[in-house]
Amino acid sequence: MIPRVLYSGILWVCSCLWLCNADSYVLDDKIGLGRQFDGIGGLSGGGATSRLLVNYAEPYRSQILDYLFKPNFGASLQILKVEIGGDAQTTDGTEPSHMHYENDENYFRGYEWWLMREAKKRNPNITLIGLPWAFPGWVGHGTNTPFEYPDITVFYVVTWIIGAKQYHDLDIDYIGIWNERKFDSKYIKLLRYTLDKSGLERVKIIASDNLWQPISLSLLLDPELHKVVEVIGAHYPGTNTVLDALKTEKKLWSSEDYSTYNDDVGGGCWARILNQNYVNGRMTSTISWNLIASYYEDLSFGRNGLMTAEEPWSGNYVVESPIWITAHTTQFAQPGWTYLQTVGHLSQGGSYVALTDGKGNLTVVIETMTHDHSICIRPPLPAYNVSAQNATFQLKGSFGSISALQVWHSKFDFKTKNPTFFKQLSPMKISDGTFTLELDVDEVYTLTTLTTGVKGSYPAPPASTPFPKSYKDDFNVRNPAFTEAPDFADQTGVFEYYINLTDPGPHVFTLRQVVTQRPVTWAADADQTISVIGDHNWQNLTVTCDVYIETPKTGGVFIAARVDKGGESVRNAKGVFYWVYADGTYKVTNDLRGQTVLAEGQSGTRAGVWHTLTLTIEGQYASGMLNGYPLWKNAVVLEPKNGWAAIGTQTFELVQFDNFSIEAKS
Ligand SMILES: *[C@@H]1O[C@H](CO)[C@@H](O)[C@H](O)[C@H]1NC(C)=O
Ligand SMILES: *[C@@H]1O[C@H](CO)[C@@H](O)[C@H](O)[C@H]1NC(C)=O
Ligand SMILES: *[C@@H]1O[C@H](CO)[C@@H](O)[C@H](O)[C@H]1NC(C)=O
Ligand SMILES: *[C@@H]1O[C@H](CO)[C@@H](O)[C@H](O)[C@H]1NC(C)=O
Ligand SMILES: *[C@@H]1O[C@H](CO)[C@@H](O)[C@H](O)[C@H]1NC(C)=O
Ligand SMILES: *[C@@H]1O[C@H](CO)[C@@H](O)[C@H](O)[C@H]1NC(C)=O
Ligand SMILES: *[C@@H]1O[C@H](CO)[C@@H](O)[C@H](O)[C@H]1NC(C)=O
Repeated sequence: MIPRVLYSGILWVCSCLWLCNADSYVLDDKIGLGRQFDGIGGLSGGGATSRLLVNYAEPYRSQILDYLFKPNFGASLQILKVEIGGDAQTTDGTEPSHMHYENDENYFRGYEWWLMREAKKRNPNITLIGLPWAFPGWVGHGTNTPFEYPDITVFYVVTWIIGAKQYHDLDIDYIGIWNERKFDSKYIKLLRYTLDKSGLERVKIIASDNLWQPISLSLLLDPELHKVVEVIGAHYPGTNTVLDALKTEKKLWSSEDYSTYNDDVGGGCWARILNQNYVNGRMTSTISWNLIASYYEDLSFGRNGLMTAEEPWSGNYVVESPIWITAHTTQFAQPGWTYLQTVGHLSQGGSYVALTDGKGNLTVVIETMTHDHSICIRPPLPAYNVSAQNATFQLKGSFGSISALQVWHSKFDFKTKNPTFFKQLSPMKISDGTFTLELDVDEVYTLTTLTTGVKGSYPAPPASTPFPKSYKDDFNVRNPAFTEAPDFADQTGVFEYYINLTDPGPHVFTLRQVVTQRPVTWAADADQTISVIGDHNWQNLTVTCDVYIETPKTGGVFIAARVDKGGESVRNAKGVFYWVYADGTYKVTNDLRGQTVLAEGQSGTRAGVWHTLTLTIEGQYASGMLNGYPLWKNAVVLEPKNGWAAIGTQTFELVQFDNFSIEAKS
């Protein structure tokens, strides 16, 4: 376990004889430097992970953005990676595409454009990355892969990059291939060729946002592919890389990592991987999935973000420990700085990295995370022992004359729950080019020549409250910057604001499901569309909505309550679904698939006419009204006991919704 010989071949200096109670580590740039540091980032998307953030009122929304992006304030993130929305389910919801249909283009859908602008406003140097998960159906031309028609896919992706510049003045720095799916070498080369032809030489390619292989071997075997790929991005590498990846001499990034509940165990995971991704795996960038937990917590991977903002209705948000763990690196080393070769493990567990700006500045980050308290869920890193230890660092080379270092400290405390995060301590005096730290377990230290660190703060946000029991949206009052109605979380399909100027009223302003063809999916989207809203704990409630089927004869629409699942399990969602159809019938089912029928009959409903649906559930009984008159009652509902409210459509078809309301009893 004890690294007698470090990576660089530098001897592990002190052998802890009887007079010496500290192990010793050299920090030196004279022997040459390591790799260039490319930054720490967050990933918005994959999917819909920032969905609720946009609906926060000011000043809270700006405060949250400051904690994420403002330099020398909080996480001070250096990279923002976003999903290129593909109209399909990508983990916690769907994100809208800039091209729903072949002849359609719109660069104001969703919230990723807005988020990139807000990030850039705070940090003009932030690196922007775009990556597709799913694609609108027309891109695949009836196949479920983006590579059958590579020219169409390249056109679609390059159009997104050009739109970012044209409509938002955003320069995308890196573009990916297809998240966690196979790649296609021909496609990657065509993408590079088209970027160059479009004047986008500056946009670099990351491949393949999956495992280290087979992309590394492909780069070694295919010189042309090697030429066009700038970065190998691997997901959840467990701090390690493979020999082939190193042999490519490409930049190695952990382009998706963390994915862990953001309590202090998550913070410990993050501290460990931020250091050890470089120490063990020579990765020069680590990107957190996800950026911010702004999605209903009962969806998949609840609270797997660097901080939590999942209550736009209350304004409550939580600056979790990963924000301050990020600051330990990001506030004191910028992309373009270089790691020293002298990095490694501490003799009694933990690790240290050191970075320099090449102008005499030095930043050292040390972590002593114990396994029990720093478990990363994906992948669970192997156990190892860490104990309290004294560590002496010897500054050599350009750093030999440093006389003091600023000290920033965090200590996790799992016993008395009294942790310290990102606290500035008195500067460390350096004598004879050495300093010694008494390291306890579960600590993070930054020692740096920079004096610019700040622990930013705002007054405490409002207290946490449940989703309001009484909720209405007639879609008439809109934030013009956004295309989606607050708090609706689309799980299959896309529900957008719509304006029908020829409508005599009151249905000029509606919400419309707009995906008309099954997308090139990333997850198992349902065959129906569905958007959930509200409190997953709700049991007894009434949901009301005006609905307008647009497809004659075959169209269909539902409202629902107690919907138990979304995300990648959405196909198997259960609940109480009240459907009406353009053929004049209705149905009540216990599942989204529509297979478990609780009631059915004639309704007289048809397309091209507004109908009002009302669904009430109390205990084990559900009842429904149509246009204010009882249509069915006493349908027996044993399971699920609770869940969200929802709206949706029978297939991928156009349907409008208006005057949505919920009255929840409990
Ligand atoms: C952006 O980077 C440049 C050069 O690297 C630096 O001078 C400038 O201070 C940075 N701006 C911000 C806001 O960090
Ligand atoms: C360190 O960085 C600061 C701020 O960028 C700069 O002013 C200074 O010259 C650098 N070098 C040293 C040795 O502090
Ligand atoms: C940790 O320490 C215990 C007791 O000293 C030892 O039995 C165990 O093998 C060690 N585990 C590792 C992973 O080094
Ligand atoms: C660290 O050094 C201090 C002061 O010399 C000493 O009291 C302490 O026991 C040492 N701790 C360890 C874990 O060796
Ligand atoms: C818009 O409203 C007019 C008038 O009510 C109606 O005929 C038409 O079908 C509506 N269009 C859509 C797409 O809803
Ligand atoms: C929902 O209503 C049923 C029947 O009235 C009742 O037994 C149950 O306690 C209610 N649920 C809650 C959470 O209040
Ligand atoms: C919307 O529904 C409410 C009852 O929930 C009703 O009072 C109102 O008239 C409806 N508005 C429209 C435009 O249908």
